Amino acid sequence: MAQAKLEGRFQAPVVGMVGAGQLARMTHQAAVDLGVELVVLARRKDDPAVSAGAQTLYGEPDDPGALAALARRSNVVTFDHEGVPYERVAALEAAGWRVEPGSDAQLFAQDKLVARERFAAQGLPVPSFAPVGAGGHDDVVTFGDRHGWPVVVKARSGGYDGRGVVVVDGPAQSKAAVATLGTTGLLVEEHVDIAVEVALVAARSRNGEYVAYPLVSTLQAEGICTELVMPAQINPELSDRAGDLARAVAETVDATGIIAVELFIDTSGDVLINEIALRPHNSGHATIEACVTSQFHNHLRAVLGWPLGDPSLIAPAAAMVNVLGPQDASDPRWRLTEALSVRSASVHLYSKAASPGRKLGHVTALGETPAQALSVARRCAALLAGA
Ligand SMILES: Nc1ncnc2c1ncn2[C@@H]1O[C@H](COP(=O)(O)OP(=O)(O)O)[C@@H](O)[C@H]1O
Ligand SMILES: [Mg+2]
Repeated sequence: MAQAKLEGRFQAPVVGMVGAGQLARMTHQAAVDLGVELVVLARRKDDPAVSAGAQTLYGEPDDPGALAALARRSNVVTFDHEGVPYERVAALEAAGWRVEPGSDAQLFAQDKLVARERFAAQGLPVPSFAPVGAGGHDDVVTFGDRHGWPVVVKARSGGYDGRGVVVVDGPAQSKAAVATLGTTGLLVEEHVDIAVEVALVAARSRNGEYVAYPLVSTLQAEGICTELVMPAQINPELSDRAGDLARAVAETVDATGIIAVELFIDTSGDVLINEIALRPHNSGHATIEACVTSQFHNHLRAVLGWPLGDPSLIAPAAAMVNVLGPQDASDPRWRLTEALSVRSASVHLYSKAASPGRKLGHVTALGETPAQALSVARRCAALLAGA
């Protein structure tokens, strides 16, 4: 009886998430485990978190009315992308709603130029960079002539999966690059001679509690992350440096929830900050099977101010391969039963309409070594891709 009465009074915490893509979908799965209610602010009925059964409000992520409606339903508001304008996030905070991560933190993930400037001001290592101002193409040429070609021109905001990033080989190509990306809101930076790209995913609470997942090494093709292994196969000293740097980044940003820090390790052994995300991240998908507590659980725990879970690996190694829409426009779901014949791989499909190059799912495998895990995950992902 007493039990029933207590249960009757229990109010499940409600987390509002702006965005309803695959990150919200997998956060919803974690919310189900924890008995937390997730309400997503979605654009469409076929958004991945909506089709997974999350409670849904429909609206645009920059609409103040929709954001306020989400906040009213929620104990805390969080995000599955960085597309909510800074002023809108700040307005929610000013209205007294709890928002994690906060607006100032989000600026680091929204604006690559602001992030570069602020990290550099803290003495944290970033590639050499400069804003592209009114000079447009001339600013790129000036930078390239000073720092050497090629250079990388980037949109300050709104880019993802390599959209918004152009490598410019020389002055002759820079006009076209600036034109493709638009003449406002760009930065230019040195083209780093990358030995390996790594990412550190961590969770941080408002009270400063911090747990870091093992460093992963990622493989990018045309700016999009295609594969990763965990732990990164780099020497322990470099791995420690990357871990220390990521922690300094999380503190500088005052991150809450999951933070993913993308890092370049260059051929001379320097570790440089590329960019950060303040939400569950593709680099952390393997944590679902590979770690005691997944990044999605820890995101919820962090934004709710609950104790964080153990990020340790439960196997010697893990690998993840993204399932991208095949070039022939076929749908990987057609081949699911073949892929499931790879029994030790774990398949995740996001219920998204297939189109070439689009992220439609991922496959994770555990193993004794990263190479072994990767070969299993690749085999399964290749069956899905019809390769
Ligand atoms: N300065 C750079 N030098 C060399 N490669 C870069 C540089 N900046 C970006 N890249 C490459 O482009 C990819 C995407 O760039 P990034 O800034 O992370 O954009 P996105 O927001 O699309 O992930 C990186 O993962 C890296 O492979
Ligand atoms: Mg990136």
